[in-house]
Amino acid sequence: MQHWMNALNRHWGIAAELRQLAGEYDLNFLAEAANGARYLLKVMRAGCDPALVQMQIGALDHIGAAAPGLPVAKPVAALDGSKLVEIADAEGLARLVWVQEALPGACYADVTPHSEDLILRLGRVLGASDRALDGFAHPALTRDFKWDLTAARWIEGELDVIHDDTRRALINGIADDFARVEDQLNALPRQAIHNDANDYNILVEGELGRTAISGLIDFGDMCAAPKVCELAIAGAYVVLDHPRPERALAALVRGYHAANRLSVDEVELIWPLLRMRLAVSVVNSALMALQVPDDPYVTISQGPAWRFLENTAVKGGLVSARLRAACGFPVTEGADRIRDHIDAHRGSYPALIGEDLAQAPMGSLSVETSTYPRDPFHMPVEDAARLGAVVPDAPIWFGSYNEPRLIYAGPAFRSGPWRASDRRTVHLGVDIFAPAGTLLYAPLSGRVEAVENRSDPLDYGGVVILHHETPQGDAFYTLYGHLDPEICDRLKPGDPVAQGSAFCRLGTPEQNGGWAPHAHFQLALTADGMAPDWPGVADPDDITFWQAICPNPAALLNLPDEKTAHFPTSKEAVWQDRQAHFAPNLRLSYDDPVMVVRGWRHHLFDEWGRPYLDAYNNVPHVGHAHPRLQAVAAEQLGRVNTNTRYLHPAQTAFADKLLSKLPDPLQVCFFVNSGSEANELALRLARAYSGATGIVTPDHGYHGNTTGAIDISAYKFNAPGGIGPSDWVELIEVADDFRGRFRRDDPYRARKFADLVDPAIAALQAKGHGLAGFIAETFPSVGGQIIPPVGYLPAVYDKVRAAGGVCIADEVQTGLGRLGEYYFGFEQQGAVPDIVVLGKPIGNGHPIGVVITTRTIADSFAQGPEFFSTFGGSTLSCRIGKEVLDIVDEEGLQDNAQRMGARLIDGLRQIEGDFVCVGDVRGMGLFLGVELVNPNGSEATEICAYLKNRMRDHRILIGSEGPKDNILKIRPPLTIEAEDIDMILITLRDILEEVGDYAPPATCDHTHHHSGCGCC
Ligand SMILES: Cc1ncc(COP(=O)(O)O)c(C=O)c1O
Repeated sequence: MQHWMNALNRHWGIAAELRQLAGEYDLNFLAEAANGARYLLKVMRAGCDPALVQMQIGALDHIGAAAPGLPVAKPVAALDGSKLVEIADAEGLARLVWVQEALPGACYADVTPHSEDLILRLGRVLGASDRALDGFAHPALTRDFKWDLTAARWIEGELDVIHDDTRRALINGIADDFARVEDQLNALPRQAIHNDANDYNILVEGELGRTAISGLIDFGDMCAAPKVCELAIAGAYVVLDHPRPERALAALVRGYHAANRLSVDEVELIWPLLRMRLAVSVVNSALMALQVPDDPYVTISQGPAWRFLENTAVKGGLVSARLRAACGFPVTEGADRIRDHIDAHRGSYPALIGEDLAQAPMGSLSVETSTYPRDPFHMPVEDAARLGAVVPDAPIWFGSYNEPRLIYAGPAFRSGPWRASDRRTVHLGVDIFAPAGTLLYAPLSGRVEAVENRSDPLDYGGVVILHHETPQGDAFYTLYGHLDPEICDRLKPGDPVAQGSAFCRLGTPEQNGGWAPHAHFQLALTADGMAPDWPGVADPDDITFWQAICPNPAALLNLPDEKTAHFPTSKEAVWQDRQAHFAPNLRLSYDDPVMVVRGWRHHLFDEWGRPYLDAYNNVPHVGHAHPRLQAVAAEQLGRVNTNTRYLHPAQTAFADKLLSKLPDPLQVCFFVNSGSEANELALRLARAYSGATGIVTPDHGYHGNTTGAIDISAYKFNAPGGIGPSDWVELIEVADDFRGRFRRDDPYRARKFADLVDPAIAALQAKGHGLAGFIAETFPSVGGQIIPPVGYLPAVYDKVRAAGGVCIADEVQTGLGRLGEYYFGFEQQGAVPDIVVLGKPIGNGHPIGVVITTRTIADSFAQGPEFFSTFGGSTLSCRIGKEVLDIVDEEGLQDNAQRMGARLIDGLRQIEGDFVCVGDVRGMGLFLGVELVNPNGSEATEICAYLKNRMRDHRILIGSEGPKDNILKIRPPLTIEAEDIDMILITLRDILEEVGDYAPPATCDHTHHHSGCGCC
């Protein structure tokens, strides 16, 4: 090392510390000079051909001059002006040595996520660098070596090295496909290309998802080849183990095309070339394994390539179509001609079911309006058979194209392991509901492409695909599903079907997969990659591509496109209207807000039917859209819904049920409409009983949005722009034994935190307010999902009562079984409050608040005026509240909260052990917090925001809390199941990997201003 340090200093005049970097044959050193400048010192292997190094230096200089903004290294001249110097190493062997300026960033291989945006940027860099390299000439560019993709057929002579017959046949097939396009490839102009944009030759800079390409390095494998080889090689790495390989590749190609135009012919070559490059890679590795049989790494490293090549879900025909679309070309060669041809005859096609459909109504099966099926994860066959009733009095009606639906509920429609994984929801055809037996007439002449009986429940039953052609010979296809399978006896592939002939008929539910009789009618511009599945629905996140392949078939029905198409409500339009109609402090969650149109248990669905795991909402305590609550509400609204000025048994039934859950002294209920209102009332009760006005409450608490509730909610009154503290409120430090004044290693912390009440009471008394009471969220939630040390609350209550105050437990967040082991939070503390406040979950979404107190306190309040709340205690509310409590008991939800909470907290604790930014995991049952910390121990607000938004990207809704918003809040409906817990844990782990060793940029503390702090 010292030798090369001296050499660097002597020849380049650079005094620097060296650190050796990985390198197979050459020595690479990172050199850090005292002034902060960083260089790469490259000592080539002994005997290295100088021409190869000259070629790289020439290329880097060429790019530097042609495109100075590109992230490629600049060679640094030695003191004598040369950029390549021969220097003897310590053994006296002559070595070629050169120096570059070092580029910032980490290897693409070590950075996650490989987002489509990052891949697009990579495509742009590659496109731009190829543009810059066009015109660069060097004799060494033309050479015979195994990584020249145009000469890749060398593998054909080595295939015996692949012992597995199936794999060998696969590689053979790839080589055959390559041979078919070889002439086309060789006809393309050649130019200098980088030729090896693999994961280790790309540098990425940036953190927490804001990443950019900061380096394209190692030009050692350059050669002269058609530029499309560059893309195919980069693509061969980008797709490996990518969750959406086709989309990743399309992003790369789109980026490249934006910087360096590709022709359609070039785009068509990408897929066969990409596969050939992977074939070269696996054959090369197999050959290497022969040389180093004991090195398992050689074979293991090929796992991703084999996985990709053997993945039958990636359909080559569709990949090419996708890449064409990514570059703005028609999705298939004939796509524009086919559409024009079909359009030109709109109005003159034979009627599909023999009659004019212009007046037939549309029926909705959309996620926004339909409740088929109730459970969006299970479509009962009985429901499928009843779909005809969606438009009750019409013998014939349409189901729409582009309509997101939840009726496709089985795992086959999901592309991941979880219920909230990506799901195909959007209908690619038009449905025509008509009686079974209705004859279908061919709108166009054609021949049978395929005919089948797919007899599984909820499949197509009888299905026919017809092949048609435009006058120019462009093939396209129409699909007819849910037919009487008798068609299989009459038709076979290749049979002609005359335009206007009655060629099949609608099946009964017994014949058509179990559905109400209807035809699924779909148009497809290609068969390549479609068979054998012929997907009839698509993932909403991929819908633009699928609609290019399967356009709206309205023209073939002689209808305008608008007649058969559905347009989901635009989230953007609603978002804009919201800004117009509401105040800006009505906030949305997540950088990319979610529009929610359906819910079921602990899942939500947006307007495109995308599922989300709801791990945040505590209001739907027993789950979204609970059928029992729907039934009770409908039933009661059909009878009467009135107020507490009249007697009704539902009022006492609700009170009885509630009081059965509470300790003895708590005997009297007040029904109101919200947690805020309940806390207001609790204050009045405390004041009526004590005759005093002062309130002690922990810092960062939240008790509601009304005037009095805000006064006792430091989270609001102390927020920026908040109204500030009221004279009658004394704050005490929240009993947070992770970050607070007394920590978990202090056995007396409960008492010490409780003692903070004493000066607060004294202050209120000194100010003449006296003590009306103490109010606290039993486990502070917005304060950061905090579980106070056991014994805290009883000690506080003793002090408060001794001073004449009452003890109010705000159990809005913690009550009703969420904690698993305890029905209420105060039970865990071994304390009995004088007033309990309930809200949110008790109505499961219906607005209910409840205050429960002792007979004595209620009596003192009753000395005052009449208490009346118009809607509080309405018949409907009482029925719903009681039903919620019954459901918690009857569905064993408290027990579920305990079991699922234990699974979650166990998994979170393991995560805590593996990631340094997870500072604390705390909670109980399904009331959990994960505190994120920076390397210096401070609150990691940015990491928390990143995790929350990335979890949302992965379809998991969680929140964040705490004074510095650095605590992830996990608080799902109590119905959550083990697979959902696992989804949370596995996804969180993946996203924490993305965070890496992020540390926020140092900021000025504003007490000690210094130059360059950037903020003062
Ligand atoms: C602990 C606590 N108390 C009271 C409230 C206020 O309830 P509401 O929004 O129903 O008025 C909330 C609401 O978030 C809460 O979390």
